[in-house]
Amino acid sequence: MKNGKHITMGIESSCDETAIAVLADGREVLSNIISSQIEIHKEYGGVVPEIASRHHLKNIPFVFDQALEEAGVSLAEVDEIGVTAGPGLAGALLMGTAYAKAICAASGKPLVGVHHIQAHILANLLEHPELEPPFLSLVVSGGHTILVEVRGYNEFKVLGSTRDDAVGEAYDKVARVIGLGYPGGPKVDKLAREGNPHAHEFKRVYLEKDSLDFSFSGTKTAVINYLHSEEQRGNEVNPADVAASFQEAVIEVLVNKAMTALDITGYKGLALAGGVASNSALRARLQAAIDERSRKSVRKGGPEIRLWIPSPIFCTDNGAMVAVAAYEKAKLGLFTGLRLDVWPNLDLETGLDKLEV
Ligand code: KG4
Ligand code: ZN
Repeated sequence: MKNGKHITMGIESSCDETAIAVLADGREVLSNIISSQIEIHKEYGGVVPEIASRHHLKNIPFVFDQALEEAGVSLAEVDEIGVTAGPGLAGALLMGTAYAKAICAASGKPLVGVHHIQAHILANLLEHPELEPPFLSLVVSGGHTILVEVRGYNEFKVLGSTRDDAVGEAYDKVARVIGLGYPGGPKVDKLAREGNPHAHEFKRVYLEKDSLDFSFSGTKTAVINYLHSEEQRGNEVNPADVAASFQEAVIEVLVNKAMTALDITGYKGLALAGGVASNSALRARLQAAIDERSRKSVRKGGPEIRLWIPSPIFCTDNGAMVAVAAYEKAKLGLFTGLRLDVWPNLDLETGLDKLEV
């Protein structure tokens, strides 16, 4: 089945998805298996780290076999194995890395340690062959909200990040107070479609003029305070209006900051990445803002301005994004020895390669 193609596996286990994918030539997705633990963590209202680790431990061998089988390749045909080594839950990361190391030790395959957020960003390459660094990216995930310059496949320069809650975290907390449960983001997204985004003007935080940092805890607290005060007064609230208005406040800030980043850097396109990038309203609003910017640019004789967004399946945690990042690192000769450790708080600029591995 290999047909002269370069085969990369990607293993992801940093949170609550056990995910393994196989790519041909770093872009063609031959398989992308995702074993989600949502149903297990649901009853606790969030991810329980030890339970997540135990399920990775149990599931990885089956997800691994299925990924190879669906791709129609044998382990012998795999050129390198990529694995997420951070950031994420330490125990969960240990399961994926220990498994990858064992496979590499037994088979002699080269191992590539991958940074989870770099992988989210590079997921954009899977479906957009024209996209190559340098470009600007907005990362919106459960643990991160970052505006970053992607200077090379392994070179990232952070322009701004959240000073408190990540955007996905704010979605999850708001979902909990509205009573939507876990996982909150997709539920707020769905409910917001039935609400009025201008029913409430929840606080928007922009920080200093032209700052590319974010702050979402004030918006989240405004929602919580509103719900508490209405409850105390015995008033009914419309959850769909609350969800839509919260989302409106968050998206307005994200879109405006992304436009400021384009103004400051002069980049002609933006790649959206991370779990919240599957949010339907964010996708639509960012597309509208970029289209308007592009029209203005073209009218003045300038270039078109582009927006790249991965398909939703490649926005939330998956193995294909790890494999594409591993493929690009392998091309740069950035392999990782079997001493690979895990790095729960690994930052984006440092990446893995500047640490002892
Ligand atoms: O990137 P991701 O899968 O995991 C991390 O690396 O953090 O992101 C998970 C986050 C969660 O907070 C989840 O609620 C949020 O992404 N999320 C969404 C949507 N789908 C996932 N937030 C808003 N709208 C969505 N459709
Ligand atoms: Zn993620």
